Amino acid sequence: MPDETIFLVGFMGSGKSSVGRALARRLGYNFLDLDQIIESRAGKTIREIFSESGEAHFRELEYEALRSLRGLKRTVVATGGGAYVDQRNRDLIRQMGRAIWLACPFEICLARISGDASRPLASNRDQLEKLFNERLPAYERADLIVQTGDAAAEQIAELIANLLGAPAE
Ligand code: S3P
Repeated sequence: MPDETIFLVGFMGSGKSSVGRALARRLGYNFLDLDQIIESRAGKTIREIFSESGEAHFRELEYEALRSLRGLKRTVVATGGGAYVDQRNRDLIRQMGRAIWLACPFEICLARISGDASRPLASNRDQLEKLFNERLPAYERADLIVQTGDAAAEQIAELIANLLGAPAE
């Protein structure tokens, strides 16, 4: 397996961070969470960035944070749910490594994110479902697609490790 960087993409609540951690452990790679990088660079939470400066500003910070990852090796990166929707980000990810879409059914994502105040876009069900459907064509461009159902993070990580041809543990 090449020492590449792996980007997990997909909707809020699809398990990018938990699967990312489990996959990094399984592969012996580092793990990074793009939203955490944005927060620590800005010194603010995602919610504060959205409410003080708006989504467009957040998207610029997201692009800059992604750009700052160039040159990484042996790393699993959990991206935010909107990152892979932007063509610029998809181009960066293609240059840096491989995108894996955690294709998780809407109802499961919804159950995981409803009531989570830290996600500014997780408002009402209808809006979320619309956003989910709008984003599918972008997510479908990922290099690898994994149907997650509601399987445990470790199980999904193991499946991905096998698809990537990682040696058995
Ligand atoms: C967003 C998803 C969030 C975070 C921000 C915007 C989105 O990340 O980047 O709130 O546009 O879907 P998670 O997918 O980790 O919740």
